[in-house]
Amino acid sequence: MTDLDGRVILVTGAAKRIGRAIALALAKRGARVAIHYSASRAEAEATAAECGAAPIFAANLESVAEIERLFAEVHRHFGRLDGLVNNAARFTKLDPLTITEADWDFIHDVNLKAVFFCCQQAARLMLPAGGGRIVNISSGGALRPWPYHAHYCASKAGVAHLTRALAVAWAPTLSVNSIAPGVIPFGEENEPGVKALIDKSPARRPGTGDEIAEGVIHFLTASRFTTGQVLAVDGGLSLV
Ligand SMILES: NC(=O)c1ccc[n+]([C@@H]2O[C@H](COP(=O)([O-])OP(=O)(O)OC[C@H]3O[C@@H](n4cnc5c(N)ncnc54)[C@H](OP(=O)(O)O)[C@@H]3O)[C@@H](O)[C@H]2O)c1
Repeated sequence: MTDLDGRVILVTGAAKRIGRAIALALAKRGARVAIHYSASRAEAEATAAECGAAPIFAANLESVAEIERLFAEVHRHFGRLDGLVNNAARFTKLDPLTITEADWDFIHDVNLKAVFFCCQQAARLMLPAGGGRIVNISSGGALRPWPYHAHYCASKAGVAHLTRALAVAWAPTLSVNSIAPGVIPFGEENEPGVKALIDKSPARRPGTGDEIAEGVIHFLTASRFTTGQVLAVDGGLSLV
């Protein structure tokens, strides 16, 4: 898929922030974007309008049954699927000494379990069709240890390694790659923890949703010879 024109690509968590930027960038390149959302219906509608009246699909990705319904609806609407961008996720900051089972599941149900089952659903559509691309959004937290985000780091490191395992499982028909964003704030630039990371980063600035979208488009349009890779788009933050 060197050209996105007319390609059907599902972006999860596409109503706002990075997911919105990815959806807009894909639509601009001529893709037919399926906008997934959970709680942010109004924002999803706004993003969909900006993507040229793209359809929107609601699903709580904590539930595998909802994931199966989501992919069935997308397939019913478009009749095909060419790509999946697993962007939806949760983020919490917790002392690892006090994390409960519920805290752990809250993160892992969406950040890792849902990513796996979305990949599975996409592969069940794309393998028989003869090709497709999956891009999973991981995190700098998969590459560097953040002590008060141990649970989040584990989920995102899981995404990075899941990406490698599924790349092998589904080669050569599908490519499965991952982006690890650095600090991509949407108004949180001046929060102390966020500012400290921005100051530390070799780029000395935060990243943008458009820069993450650039990485996603690279994997969606690259030859399927590029598979199982994790691309840090982080201004060099993971290097220091
Ligand atoms: N922003 C950053 O600095 C940064 C850094 C590293 C990695 N990342 C990764 O990049 C991706 C996007 O980041 P972001 O900051 O734009 O994300 P975000 O705003 O925190 O979340 C994206 C979307 O995920 C959806 N979501 C959450 N729980 C869900 C559930 N149970 N079912 C369905 N959807 C659910 C939400 O959709 P609704 O609003 O519709 O409910 C939300 O809008 C994430 O994977 C994140 O981990 C971000």
